Amino acid sequence: MKNLAIIYWSATGNTEKMALAIAEAAKSEGAAVNLLEVGKASKEDVLKADIVALGCPSMGSEELEEEEMLPFIEALEGENLQDKPMALFGSYDWGDGQWMREWEERMSGQGVKLVDEGLIVQNTPDEEGVEACTQLGIKLANLS
Ligand SMILES: Cc1cc2nc3c(=O)[nH]c(=O)nc-3n(C[C@H](O)[C@H](O)[C@H](O)COP(=O)(O)O)c2cc1C
Repeated sequence: MKNLAIIYWSATGNTEKMALAIAEAAKSEGAAVNLLEVGKASKEDVLKADIVALGCPSMGSEELEEEEMLPFIEALEGENLQDKPMALFGSYDWGDGQWMREWEERMSGQGVKLVDEGLIVQNTPDEEGVEACTQLGIKLANLS
């Protein structure tokens, strides 16, 4: 059974909705899912997981949220993440996804294996957005 950690930050619930849809789909495919708000997560939750999905909306000016998610990512940067399968996701509003492109580069620089392009959804995930999250959850649960 694959062990999937889904760790996210969300202020108004949009990224949380994505996390829940990913989690539900992965569970229905038989994965053991550890779904955590980043404030309740430790880097051990990442290190012990077979697969990791990290979620954060675009905050600041195309940046990661800086009180909880950014320190969490910085703490991970001291660890061995080589070849760790990882997916990134998050909600945004008026931007063009720059925060996600930079986040992908940052995580790739740590040696993680991004399983897909970062999944970005504008504001609250609509039916199509939820479906994209569902597909990501299925994919993560079935990684070989
Ligand atoms: C302080 C603040 C800064 C933001 N900065 C950006 C930004 O740079 N680019 C963007 O596309 N959206 C930006 N947004 C919009 C959020 O990414 C968007 O509302 C998102 O849906 C929030 O996700 P959440 O419900 O998971 O908190 C910002 C929102 C806030 C409150």
